[in-house]
Amino acid sequence: VGRVLVVGATGLVGGKVVDELLAEGAAVAALVRPTADPTPLRARGAEVRTGDLRDRGSLDRALDGVQAVVTTAYGYARRQPGDSLAAVDAAGNSNLIAAARRAGVRRLVFTSVLTADRAVSVPHFYQKARTEAELEASGVPFVALRPGGFVDTLLDASLPGIRRGVLRVPADPDAPASTILSDDVAWFLARAVSVPGIDGGRIDLGTERPTTLREVAATLSRVTGREVRVRPVPTLVRRVAFGAIGLFSPQMRDVMRAMAYVSSGQYVADVTRQREVFGRVPTLQDSVRRWARRAGLGDPVGA
Ligand SMILES: NC(=O)c1ccc[n+]([C@@H]2O[C@H](COP(=O)([O-])OP(=O)(O)OC[C@H]3O[C@@H](n4cnc5c(N)ncnc54)[C@H](OP(=O)(O)O)[C@@H]3O)[C@@H](O)[C@H]2O)c1
Repeated sequence: VGRVLVVGATGLVGGKVVDELLAEGAAVAALVRPTADPTPLRARGAEVRTGDLRDRGSLDRALDGVQAVVTTAYGYARRQPGDSLAAVDAAGNSNLIAAARRAGVRRLVFTSVLTADRAVSVPHFYQKARTEAELEASGVPFVALRPGGFVDTLLDASLPGIRRGVLRVPADPDAPASTILSDDVAWFLARAVSVPGIDGGRIDLGTERPTTLREVAATLSRVTGREVRVRPVPTLVRRVAFGAIGLFSPQMRDVMRAMAYVSSGQYVADVTRQREVFGRVPTLQDSVRRWARRAGLGDPVGA
């Protein structure tokens, strides 16, 4: 494989991709913004290269001697002043594609999102499809992995409620939607660096089948041995409250659009290709069990 540059290495999934690649024995370089602390990545064995997707020159330097790139980075969460969908997800990814082309990388693994090309009502989902198209037009060998919602992110955010037996959900609890553990997303991204024959592919990532948030709560009840009931934010409250906040917060507006899309039942994965390429489709039960164990919530199923 050669040297792999991980863009987004200071984030949730990117950090796990670094660890997966290091465990496989790969030489890993991590792109780290000047504002982030590089010490933990260095301590784990990654080489640290300073750069920012908004700075094309920094990417040319970071890609020196690199054969493959995995990127999980995105700007629509606005982690820093100046981050935005336009500056990072659109222009920043264009910079990365141009730099990867110049460096002649053999594969760029892009973290997209489920059904990106159909999610026209959600700008930060649809931008992923635009970047996929730009990658295709650039001639840079690439593969796009399209994960469903990170079940651990949802459950982590609800942990205090879950301890009291309530899972608060921001979307329709009865709409089918695909989820996946972020650890598994990282596992697939790391493998996608070297699996042959997948160039140009868009591969959905999910658990064995789309499930509802009510089923996620039921699974949580089963694996922890204590009842967790789903409590949706009522649709009217969601519209009015999020709408009002959305007037002032573009980030909240994005979340609201994404939740409306997820509630529409279209956010579902076809895991056929995932199974063919990677030979692995995790189950919801196992994913929730791994989360519960980590959260210290017990493990009666399969204990
Ligand atoms: N959460 C979900 O349910 C879900 C579902 C499907 C797909 N996804 C996708 O999964 C991916 C990974 O998400 P995550 O949870 O790991 O995100 P995260 O924890 O928020 O990490 C984002 C990373 O992007 C980096 N970044 C942001 N702007 C940058 C820039 N201008 N230049 C260089 N790096 C920059 C951040 O660096 P700093 O530390 O310097 O800010 C950070 O390392 C995202 O692409 C997301 O769209 C998420």
